[in-house]
Amino acid sequence: MEPTILDFDPKKYKFREWACEVLGATCLEKLHKSDRIKALNRSPTSNQLSQLFSEIQDSYHSFILELLRDTFSGISSYQSPPSFRFHYCGRSSSVFHRDRDFGVEDGRLNVWVPLTNVWGENSLWIESTVGAKNYKPIAMKLGQALIFDGVNLGHGSIQQIRRESALTLDFCLG
Ligand SMILES: [Fe+2]
Repeated sequence: MEPTILDFDPKKYKFREWACEVLGATCLEKLHKSDRIKALNRSPTSNQLSQLFSEIQDSYHSFILELLRDTFSGISSYQSPPSFRFHYCGRSSSVFHRDRDFGVEDGRLNVWVPLTNVWGENSLWIESTVGAKNYKPIAMKLGQALIFDGVNLGHGSIQQIRRESALTLDFCLG
């Protein structure tokens, strides 16, 4: 499938506000400035947000059902909790890979939801077709979710030297 961007209402699904509250941050774009926040963020599945995920669990499940109901019928399972990734200004966050390189089975899809605006070097870079390696960044804003075949399409991120950090959540659909 082609990478697809779906819109949702960020006032209904307040993941950004929740993340700010949990992290004690007024501005997610400045996350790289807080040593306190960075010290507690050990990995995408072990951080302040994953630990308090139960607070938004119901909203997250409604979000997935509403977002995907009309687009992808027959979803049998999805990852919960999602992974939370901090893309700090000045750092690279992911080498380029296909999820199949790590044993993920064909037929699964990736959903990537930025909680900040993303474009250029603070975004996710994806190749246009399998094996093309012509990676391009996806431009998205709060209120959008990207669905793509990360099992087969190469993806990753580059070192970013801009002044804004990004925070995203992502998950697999089974
Ligand atoms: Fe991946």
